Formats: sequence, structure tokens, C-alpha cells
Amino acid sequence: MGDNRVVSVGLVGLGRLGRQHAENLAYRIPNCRLTAVCSIKAEEVEEAQAQLGVPYGYTDYEDMLRNKELDAIFIASPSSYHCDQIEKALAAGFHVFSEKPLGLYMEEALRVQEAVRSHPNQVFMLGFMRRYDRSYVYAKRKIEAGAIGEPVLIRCYGLDPAQAMPGFLQFAKSNYSGGLFLDMAIHDLDLARWYLGVEAERVWAIGGSHRYTELAQLQDAETGAALVQFAGNKMGVFVAGRNCAHGYHIETEIIGTLGTLRIGTVPEKNQVAIMDDRGVVRECAQGFLERFEQAYLDEAIEFVEAILEGRQPGVRVEDGVLSTALGYACKESYDTGRLVEVCAPAALSGSHDTR
Ligand SMILES: NC(=O)c1ccc[n+]([C@@H]2O[C@H](COP(=O)([O-])OP(=O)(O)OC[C@H]3O[C@@H](n4cnc5c(N)ncnc54)[C@H](O)[C@@H]3O)[C@@H](O)[C@H]2O)c1
Repeated sequence: MGDNRVVSVGLVGLGRLGRQHAENLAYRIPNCRLTAVCSIKAEEVEEAQAQLGVPYGYTDYEDMLRNKELDAIFIASPSSYHCDQIEKALAAGFHVFSEKPLGLYMEEALRVQEAVRSHPNQVFMLGFMRRYDRSYVYAKRKIEAGAIGEPVLIRCYGLDPAQAMPGFLQFAKSNYSGGLFLDMAIHDLDLARWYLGVEAERVWAIGGSHRYTELAQLQDAETGAALVQFAGNKMGVFVAGRNCAHGYHIETEIIGTLGTLRIGTVPEKNQVAIMDDRGVVRECAQGFLERFEQAYLDEAIEFVEAILEGRQPGVRVEDGVLSTALGYACKESYDTGRLVEVCAPAALSGSHDTR
């Protein structure tokens, strides 16, 4: 590290989310410099370099890893590349942030876990940004303070706006997303583990494609539901979808022995109510960049601070492995129509931090 108070970052992936991370890393994260960007699309690299003043641009990821000015690699490429790119970045000596999901298969997720564990002096963080959203953090603190007693059931809605479907179909045709549960519900599956404080044991998942039947040809579902049995007789109900007419609907309910707590019951865009000939209208957030703008910033701040302070961040590789195990079990149950036992690898006890 040249200047030990500034973390020099190389970002791979300049798509829907990568571009937002690029702007955050370039302008909004203290003690951070966006030194390099990489994408297989040269035009994206040139545009990001020109607009954000990034000195180095690459169309080949391994070329970027040879840049000695970098301290850390930020991965926002399609999910099927995450594991390989994480392993290569760790082997080259970098701190690594990776977008979710950690991996699409258990074998690769476990391989990455080994790689992270064998580089204990390098920071690794996974992008479960909802753990940095202020409402989700507030709910966690309330639960820890006993506000609803012992949490026993979690109910989650994770619905993408229908208007994003054409873009998603394009993405899903060229990149394997892992399907509705590993790609979309994974945030809720991680939150369930975080709030309930236990791991999943078995799952039954169903789904279908009723409006965009092309999704069925991609072996994916437009709308799906999973019922999950967690340890200690705790429960989870997850609804995921990509055809939400009113916008981006992210809602979470946690039922405890003494009360219930809800986050985002009505997924409002802001505090404005429009009263006109339609009645009283509260508009809805239209996508993840809008709803979780602050969380994407705060997770990147946490990553950079963890590097500067020489500690590991709150979201760890084990969270990635266990949520992939649960997401994969949901996918398997959806594919086979059967109740599926979650493959929870041993040696993962103690993975419930208190962040
Ligand atoms: N945390 C969240 O809320 C959230 C939201 C959206 C996406 N994601 C995750 O972020 C990742 C990217 O999603 P997206 O929607 O931005 O995808 P995208 O398709 O819009 O962008 C992918 C980017 O990666 C580049 N790319 C593809 N293959 C590459 C390779 N081999 N080497 C280098 N660059 C390559 C593409 O050119 C593009 O710039 C996915 O893993 C997705 O699951 C997370």
C-alpha cells in the first residue's frame, strides 16, 4: 500500500450495480481511491475511466491483478465468475469484496471459504448490503435488546419490478444467475439466518412463470415461494418474484415470542403522498439502486475501514457459504418438487456474529 491511509481499489464489472459501486468508490468513500476498472466490454471501461477519472482500465481481469498500485479488488461481475475471481485476487495478495452470491454451487463456495481462511491477513467481505441498511440495522438492534422476545418466524417478500424484466431476461440469457432463489431470495435467506440466529435444516420450494414464460425455458421461475424449517423449531416463509407491478417490493417481518417487527411493510419511495383523481398515492421505490443507495455506500465504507483497521468485516465468507447452501436447497426443491435437507457444512458453528 503506497499511502497507508488510502485504499487503492480495482473494480471488475461495470454493469447495473458495478457502475454504482464505481461512482461510490471514486467519489463517496473516505480513504478510498478507484485506481482501476475492468470489464470485458471495452466501451464500458473507457466510459468509466473518462467519466470518473480512473487511471487504469482493463478488459482482462488477470491483467488488472498484475497492477502493483492496487490494494483491494471489488467484484461486481456476473455471479458465475465470483468464485474464480475471488480465488485469483486472494492468491495475488489483495483484499477482496465480492457481490452476492458467493457462489452458485456448494463445491465452489467451499473452495472459496478455504481460500479466504488460508489468507487470514487479507480482508474478505461479501455484499449482503441489507445488513448495512439503516432500517435493517435498527431492527437487529431492537431484537438484540429484546423488543420482540425471541424471534421465531421470519416472513420475507423480495420482488423485483416488472419493468426491470426485459433487462433481467437479457442478463439471464447471457449469464447464469443461479435462478430466482440463489439470485433474488438470497438476501432474505441471509437475513433470516442473521435475525433468527440459527441455520436452516430443510426446505420446500415451489414456483412458476405465468406472465414471462421465457423464464421457464431458462429453468427459472418468475414467482416462487419457499417454506424453511430452521433449527430450534424456527420458521421462514420466503416469497420471491420478478413481476411486481407496483415496483421494487422488499418487505420483512419478524415474529417473536413477545411481539412483531416489520421493515418496509409498504415499500414507499419517500414520504410524499400525492392526492389526486386516483385517490391517495404513495409511490414505490423502483429498484435496488434506489432502495438501497445508502446500504451500498455503507458496506463499501465498512470494507475500506476494515482494511485500514486490520480487521475482518461483519459479513463473512461463512455467511456466503451457508446462504448459498440454503439458496441451493431451495433451487433443488423447486427443480425436483421434493422436500430437501439443507447441506449445512460442518465447521461453520459460531458463524452468527452480532453485527
Ligand atoms: N447486492 C445487490 O443488491 C445486487 C443487485 C444487483 C446485482 N447484484 C450482483 O452483482 C453482480 C453483477 O450484477 P449486474 O446486475 O450489475 O450485472 P450486469 O450484467 O449488469 O453487469 C455485469 C458486468 O460484468 C462485466 N463482465 C462480464 N463478464 C466479465 C468477466 N469475465 N470479466 C470482467 N467483467 C465481466 C460485464 O461486461 C458488465 O460490465 C451479480 O453477481 C449480481 O448477483 C447484487
